[in-house]
Amino acid sequence: MKNIILIGFMGAGKTTVGKLLARERQMQFVDTDERIEKEQGRSIPEIFSGEGEPYFRNLETALLRHMQEDTERCVISAGGGMPVREENRKLLRALGCVIYLSAAKETILERVKNDGSRPMLNGGDLKERVERLMREREALYRQAAHIEVRTDGRSVRHVIQIIGQETRRFG
Ligand code: S3P
Repeated sequence: MKNIILIGFMGAGKTTVGKLLARERQMQFVDTDERIEKEQGRSIPEIFSGEGEPYFRNLETALLRHMQEDTERCVISAGGGMPVREENRKLLRALGCVIYLSAAKETILERVKNDGSRPMLNGGDLKERVERLMREREALYRQAAHIEVRTDGRSVRHVIQIIGQETRRFG
């Protein structure tokens, strides 16, 4: 198989699961947020406050286009908003097996409540923001994904074990 791409809401566990999965399979781990921060020489919050969200979204699409050419045998953790654009959903699927790590909103809220590094969650009532964004995105995550794996109440190892079973079936 080519690449494994993890998508899902902020706090779904994409990075934690992705790092361990990559280690176990001896694949390279790529975090799209980290790649963008490195290329831009500044943090995601700085990009959002300096240039705004649409600019960041364009950087995400440009990165996905670029990755089509040189990304093989990687576990990719995709920023939570990437599957929102139709073009990105196609680009993600063209990279390999797309896995949607899903979680209940209560689980997500618990995981992101003390995190100031996510501009999409800043300002206003956190619960309302999370609920609205999750509502808007859920169907899009499912459209982008080949496989959905629920993470609620499951350890990272258990999630990885399920990914193993599911990707074997995927081929
Ligand atoms: C975003 C999720 C973040 C990051 C940016 C926007 C989103 O990535 O790309 O803050 O719109 O959901 P994580 O899902 O890795 O936190």
